[in-house]
Amino acid sequence: MPTYEFLTISTEQDIALLTVNRPDKLNALNASLVRELGAAAAALTTDDSVRAVIVTGAGEKAFVAGADIAELAQMSPVGGVRKSREGQEVFRAFERMGRPVVAAVNGYALGGGLELALACHLRVASTRARFGLPEVKLGIIPGYGGTFRLPRIVGRGRALELILTGEMIDATEAHRIGLVNRLAEPEDVLPTARALAATIIANGPIALALALEAVAHGETVSTEEAQRHESDLFGLLASTEDMREGMRAFLEKRAARFSNR
Ligand code: COA
Repeated sequence: MPTYEFLTISTEQDIALLTVNRPDKLNALNASLVRELGAAAAALTTDDSVRAVIVTGAGEKAFVAGADIAELAQMSPVGGVRKSREGQEVFRAFERMGRPVVAAVNGYALGGGLELALACHLRVASTRARFGLPEVKLGIIPGYGGTFRLPRIVGRGRALELILTGEMIDATEAHRIGLVNRLAEPEDVLPTARALAATIIANGPIALALALEAVAHGETVSTEEAQRHESDLFGLLASTEDMREGMRAFLEKRAARFSNR
Protein backbone atom coordinates (compact mmCIF):
# COMPACT_ATOMS: atom_id res chain seq x y z
CA MET A 1 0.00 0.00 0.00
CA PRO A 2 1.33 3.51 -0.78
CA THR A 3 1.65 5.99 2.12
CA TYR A 4 -0.81 8.84 2.37
CA GLU A 5 -0.94 12.31 3.85
CA PHE A 6 -4.72 12.72 3.79
CA LEU A 7 -6.06 9.15 3.89
CA THR A 8 -5.99 6.27 6.33
CA ILE A 9 -6.71 2.69 5.32
CA SER A 10 -7.23 -0.26 7.64
CA THR A 11 -8.62 -3.71 6.95
CA GLU A 12 -10.73 -5.83 9.25
CA GLN A 13 -12.34 -9.13 8.31
CA ASP A 14 -11.74 -8.63 4.57
CA ILE A 15 -13.37 -5.16 4.63
CA ALA A 16 -11.11 -2.17 3.99
CA LEU A 17 -12.00 1.10 5.71
CA LEU A 18 -10.77 4.12 3.78
CA THR A 19 -11.03 7.37 5.75
CA VAL A 20 -10.61 10.78 4.14
CA ASN A 21 -8.56 12.50 6.78
CA ARG A 22 -8.42 16.28 6.56
CA PRO A 23 -10.88 17.16 9.30
CA ASP A 24 -9.69 20.75 9.87
CA LYS A 25 -11.02 21.54 6.36
CA LEU A 26 -14.04 19.25 6.67
CA ASN A 27 -12.17 16.72 4.49
CA ALA A 28 -12.34 19.03 1.45
CA LEU A 29 -10.69 17.47 -1.58
CA ASN A 30 -7.53 19.28 -2.60
CA ALA A 31 -5.51 18.08 -5.61
CA SER A 32 -3.20 15.91 -3.47
CA LEU A 33 -6.16 14.27 -1.80
CA VAL A 34 -7.80 13.47 -5.15
CA ARG A 35 -4.51 11.91 -6.34
CA GLU A 36 -4.25 9.91 -3.12
CA LEU A 37 -7.81 8.65 -3.59
CA GLY A 38 -6.78 7.48 -7.08
CA ALA A 39 -3.73 5.66 -5.70
CA ALA A 40 -5.84 4.09 -2.95
CA ALA A 41 -8.50 2.93 -5.42
CA ALA A 42 -5.81 1.34 -7.60
CA ALA A 43 -4.16 -0.37 -4.62
CA LEU A 44 -7.48 -1.69 -3.25
CA THR A 45 -8.55 -2.94 -6.69
CA THR A 46 -5.53 -5.20 -6.97
CA ASP A 47 -5.61 -6.42 -3.36
CA ASP A 48 -7.34 -9.81 -3.49
CA SER A 49 -7.63 -9.93 0.30
CA VAL A 50 -10.05 -6.98 0.23
CA ARG A 51 -13.62 -8.16 -0.40
CA ALA A 52 -15.42 -4.85 0.22
CA VAL A 53 -14.52 -1.23 0.85
CA ILE A 54 -16.11 1.35 3.14
CA VAL A 55 -15.39 5.02 2.50
CA THR A 56 -15.90 7.55 5.29
CA GLY A 57 -14.70 10.93 6.55
CA ALA A 58 -12.63 11.77 9.63
CA GLY A 59 -14.19 13.81 12.42
CA GLU A 60 -17.72 14.33 13.62
CA LYS A 61 -18.86 16.91 11.12
CA ALA A 62 -18.15 15.92 7.56
CA PHE A 63 -17.93 13.04 5.14
CA VAL A 64 -16.38 15.38 2.55
CA ALA A 65 -17.44 19.05 2.22
CA GLY A 66 -16.53 19.20 -1.47
CA ALA A 67 -13.62 20.13 -3.64
CA ASP A 68 -11.19 22.58 -2.03
CA ILE A 69 -12.66 25.99 -2.85
CA ALA A 70 -9.35 27.76 -2.17
CA GLU A 71 -7.83 25.72 -5.02
CA LEU A 72 -10.87 26.03 -7.29
CA ALA A 73 -10.68 29.82 -7.01
CA GLN A 74 -7.31 29.74 -8.82
CA MET A 75 -8.33 27.53 -11.72
CA SER A 76 -7.88 28.40 -15.40
CA PRO A 77 -10.20 27.06 -18.13
CA VAL A 78 -7.77 24.33 -19.18
CA GLY A 79 -6.91 23.63 -15.55
CA GLY A 80 -10.64 23.28 -14.84
CA VAL A 81 -11.08 20.69 -17.57
CA ARG A 82 -8.06 18.76 -16.27
CA LYS A 83 -9.21 18.96 -12.66
CA SER A 84 -12.65 17.70 -13.58
CA ARG A 85 -11.28 14.87 -15.75
CA GLU A 86 -8.89 13.75 -13.04
CA GLY A 87 -11.61 13.69 -10.38
CA GLN A 88 -13.98 11.86 -12.74
CA GLU A 89 -11.38 9.16 -13.44
CA VAL A 90 -10.57 8.74 -9.76
CA PHE A 91 -14.24 8.41 -8.79
CA ARG A 92 -14.82 6.06 -11.73
CA ALA A 93 -12.10 3.84 -10.26
CA PHE A 94 -14.21 3.50 -7.09
CA GLU A 95 -17.23 2.53 -9.16
CA ARG A 96 -15.15 -0.01 -11.12
CA MET A 97 -13.38 -1.55 -8.15
CA GLY A 98 -14.93 -4.96 -8.84
CA ARG A 99 -16.09 -5.37 -5.25
CA PRO A 100 -18.81 -3.56 -3.30
CA VAL A 101 -17.94 -0.05 -2.13
CA VAL A 102 -20.14 1.43 0.62
CA ALA A 103 -20.06 5.11 1.56
CA ALA A 104 -20.52 5.64 5.31
CA VAL A 105 -21.69 9.25 5.22
CA ASN A 106 -20.98 10.57 8.71
CA GLY A 107 -21.75 14.26 8.08
CA TYR A 108 -21.75 16.85 5.29
CA ALA A 109 -21.55 15.27 1.80
CA LEU A 110 -21.39 18.33 -0.43
CA GLY A 111 -20.21 18.89 -3.99
CA GLY A 112 -17.32 16.52 -4.69
CA GLY A 113 -18.13 14.80 -1.39
CA LEU A 114 -21.61 13.88 -2.57
CA GLU A 115 -20.10 12.90 -5.93
CA LEU A 116 -17.69 10.55 -4.15
CA ALA A 117 -20.62 9.00 -2.28
CA LEU A 118 -22.51 8.65 -5.59
CA ALA A 119 -19.56 6.77 -7.13
CA CYS A 120 -19.79 4.27 -4.27
CA HIS A 121 -22.28 1.45 -4.90
CA LEU A 122 -24.31 1.93 -1.71
CA ARG A 123 -24.72 4.69 0.85
CA VAL A 124 -25.30 4.44 4.60
CA ALA A 125 -25.82 7.78 6.30
CA SER A 126 -25.88 9.32 9.74
CA THR A 127 -29.19 10.90 10.71
CA ARG A 128 -27.10 14.08 11.04
CA ALA A 129 -25.66 13.92 7.49
CA ARG A 130 -26.55 16.61 4.99
CA PHE A 131 -26.32 16.35 1.23
CA GLY A 132 -26.05 18.88 -1.56
CA LEU A 133 -24.47 20.00 -4.80
CA PRO A 134 -23.83 23.69 -4.01
CA GLU A 135 -21.62 24.30 -7.08
CA VAL A 136 -24.01 26.77 -8.76
CA LYS A 137 -23.71 28.98 -5.69
CA LEU A 138 -20.02 29.28 -6.61
CA GLY A 139 -20.73 29.86 -10.30
CA ILE A 140 -19.70 26.36 -11.43
CA ILE A 141 -21.40 23.00 -11.99
CA PRO A 142 -20.66 19.59 -10.46
CA GLY A 143 -17.56 18.28 -12.23
CA TYR A 144 -16.83 14.90 -10.65
CA GLY A 145 -19.77 12.92 -12.06
CA GLY A 146 -22.68 14.52 -10.19
CA THR A 147 -24.56 15.65 -13.29
CA PHE A 148 -24.95 12.10 -14.59
CA ARG A 149 -24.76 9.89 -11.49
CA LEU A 150 -27.30 11.77 -9.36
CA PRO A 151 -30.13 11.54 -11.97
CA ARG A 152 -29.46 7.81 -12.36
CA ILE A 153 -29.90 7.29 -8.64
CA VAL A 154 -32.74 9.66 -7.70
CA GLY A 155 -34.31 10.49 -11.08
CA ARG A 156 -33.93 13.56 -13.25
CA GLY A 157 -36.44 15.85 -11.52
CA ARG A 158 -35.03 15.37 -8.05
CA ALA A 159 -31.46 15.60 -9.33
CA LEU A 160 -32.15 18.84 -11.16
CA GLU A 161 -33.77 20.30 -8.06
CA LEU A 162 -30.58 19.64 -6.06
CA ILE A 163 -28.26 20.76 -8.88
CA LEU A 164 -30.18 23.95 -9.74
CA THR A 165 -31.05 25.15 -6.23
CA GLY A 166 -27.69 24.19 -4.72
CA GLU A 167 -29.59 23.63 -1.48
CA MET A 168 -28.89 20.94 1.07
CA ILE A 169 -31.25 18.16 2.09
CA ASP A 170 -31.17 16.31 5.37
CA ALA A 171 -30.64 12.59 5.84
CA THR A 172 -34.34 11.75 6.15
CA GLU A 173 -35.09 13.39 2.82
CA ALA A 174 -32.02 11.75 1.24
CA HIS A 175 -33.32 8.39 2.42
CA ARG A 176 -36.83 9.15 1.19
CA ILE A 177 -35.65 9.92 -2.34
CA GLY A 178 -33.40 6.85 -2.53
CA LEU A 179 -30.11 8.72 -2.37
CA VAL A 180 -29.30 6.82 0.81
CA ASN A 181 -29.84 3.08 1.27
CA ARG A 182 -29.79 3.01 5.08
CA LEU A 183 -29.94 5.54 7.90
CA ALA A 184 -28.23 5.08 11.26
CA GLU A 185 -27.62 7.07 14.42
CA PRO A 186 -24.23 8.82 14.20
CA GLU A 187 -22.44 6.25 16.37
CA ASP A 188 -23.97 3.39 14.36
CA VAL A 189 -23.00 4.56 10.86
CA LEU A 190 -19.80 2.54 10.60
CA PRO A 191 -21.21 -0.59 12.26
CA THR A 192 -24.22 -0.41 9.91
CA ALA A 193 -21.95 0.00 6.88
CA ARG A 194 -19.82 -2.92 8.10
CA ALA A 195 -22.87 -5.12 8.65
CA LEU A 196 -24.16 -4.31 5.16
CA ALA A 197 -20.75 -5.05 3.63
CA ALA A 198 -20.49 -8.30 5.63
CA THR A 199 -23.92 -9.44 4.42
CA ILE A 200 -22.87 -8.77 0.85
CA ILE A 201 -19.49 -10.48 1.00
CA ALA A 202 -21.01 -13.65 2.42
CA ASN A 203 -22.17 -14.15 -1.20
CA GLY A 204 -20.11 -15.46 -4.09
CA PRO A 205 -17.31 -12.99 -4.91
CA ILE A 206 -17.29 -13.65 -8.65
CA ALA A 207 -21.08 -13.31 -8.75
CA LEU A 208 -20.80 -9.98 -6.89
CA ALA A 209 -18.18 -8.66 -9.30
CA LEU A 210 -20.23 -9.69 -12.33
CA ALA A 211 -23.45 -8.28 -10.83
CA LEU A 212 -21.69 -4.91 -10.43
CA GLU A 213 -20.35 -5.24 -13.97
CA ALA A 214 -23.79 -6.09 -15.43
CA VAL A 215 -25.53 -3.18 -13.71
CA ALA A 216 -22.81 -0.71 -14.77
CA HIS A 217 -22.82 -1.93 -18.36
CA GLY A 218 -26.62 -2.04 -18.56
CA GLU A 219 -26.85 1.66 -17.67
CA THR A 220 -25.06 2.81 -20.80
CA VAL A 221 -26.22 0.50 -23.59
CA SER A 222 -29.43 -0.52 -25.40
CA THR A 223 -31.74 -3.10 -23.83
CA GLU A 224 -30.69 -5.61 -26.50
CA GLU A 225 -27.01 -5.13 -25.70
CA ALA A 226 -27.70 -5.23 -21.95
CA GLN A 227 -29.59 -8.52 -22.41
CA ARG A 228 -26.75 -10.09 -24.42
CA HIS A 229 -24.13 -8.99 -21.89
CA GLU A 230 -26.23 -10.21 -18.94
CA SER A 231 -26.66 -13.63 -20.58
CA ASP A 232 -22.93 -13.91 -21.27
CA LEU A 233 -22.08 -13.15 -17.65
CA PHE A 234 -24.86 -15.44 -16.40
CA GLY A 235 -23.45 -18.29 -18.50
CA LEU A 236 -19.87 -17.51 -17.50
CA LEU A 237 -20.75 -18.11 -13.85
CA ALA A 238 -21.66 -21.72 -14.72
CA SER A 239 -17.92 -22.28 -15.21
CA THR A 240 -17.12 -21.39 -11.59
CA GLU A 241 -16.47 -23.63 -8.64
CA ASP A 242 -18.41 -21.05 -6.60
CA MET A 243 -21.61 -21.73 -8.55
CA ARG A 244 -21.31 -25.46 -7.90
CA GLU A 245 -20.58 -24.80 -4.22
CA GLY A 246 -23.46 -22.31 -3.83
CA MET A 247 -26.01 -24.69 -5.28
CA ARG A 248 -24.60 -27.75 -3.50
CA ALA A 249 -24.72 -25.86 -0.19
CA PHE A 250 -28.38 -24.97 -0.77
CA LEU A 251 -29.30 -28.57 -1.54
CA GLU A 252 -27.33 -29.79 1.49
CA LYS A 253 -28.98 -27.11 3.70
CA ARG A 254 -25.70 -25.54 4.82
CA ALA A 255 -23.90 -22.21 4.35
CA ALA A 256 -21.80 -21.97 1.20
CA ARG A 257 -18.01 -21.73 1.43
CA PHE A 258 -17.00 -19.71 -1.61
CA SER A 259 -13.42 -19.90 -2.87
CA ASN A 260 -13.39 -17.15 -5.51
CA ARG A 261 -12.77 -19.73 -8.23
N1 COA B 1 -13.08 23.90 0.49
C1 COA B 1 -12.14 24.45 1.26
N2 COA B 1 -12.28 24.61 2.59
C2 COA B 1 -13.42 24.18 3.15
C3 COA B 1 -14.45 23.59 2.40
C4 COA B 1 -14.25 23.45 1.00
N3 COA B 1 -15.15 22.87 0.22
N4 COA B 1 -15.48 23.30 3.23
C5 COA B 1 -15.09 23.69 4.46
N5 COA B 1 -13.85 24.22 4.41
C6 COA B 1 -13.05 24.77 5.52
C7 COA B 1 -13.52 26.14 5.94
O1 COA B 1 -12.98 27.14 5.11
C8 COA B 1 -12.99 26.21 7.36
O2 COA B 1 -11.61 26.45 7.31
P1 COA B 1 -10.93 27.51 8.34
O3 COA B 1 -11.21 26.94 9.70
O4 COA B 1 -9.47 27.49 7.98
O5 COA B 1 -11.61 28.82 8.10
C9 COA B 1 -13.16 24.77 7.85
O6 COA B 1 -13.24 23.96 6.67
C10 COA B 1 -14.43 24.56 8.65
O7 COA B 1 -15.54 24.98 7.86
P2 COA B 1 -16.61 26.07 8.34
O8 COA B 1 -17.20 26.71 7.11
O9 COA B 1 -16.01 26.99 9.34
O10 COA B 1 -17.68 25.14 9.06
P3 COA B 1 -19.24 25.45 9.27
O11 COA B 1 -19.73 24.42 10.22
O12 COA B 1 -19.45 26.89 9.59
O13 COA B 1 -19.92 25.19 7.83
C11 COA B 1 -20.29 24.00 5.77
C12 COA B 1 -19.92 23.91 7.27
C13 COA B 1 -20.10 22.61 5.18
C14 COA B 1 -21.75 24.44 5.62
C15 COA B 1 -19.36 25.01 5.08
O14 COA B 1 -18.00 24.70 5.41
C16 COA B 1 -19.46 25.06 3.58
O15 COA B 1 -20.42 25.57 3.03
N6 COA B 1 -18.44 24.51 2.87
C17 COA B 1 -18.35 24.56 1.44
C18 COA B 1 -19.28 23.55 0.80
C19 COA B 1 -19.24 23.66 -0.71
O16 COA B 1 -19.63 24.64 -1.32
N7 COA B 1 -18.74 22.58 -1.32
C20 COA B 1 -18.73 22.43 -2.76
C21 COA B 1 -17.44 22.87 -3.35
S1 COA B 1 -17.50 22.71 -5.11
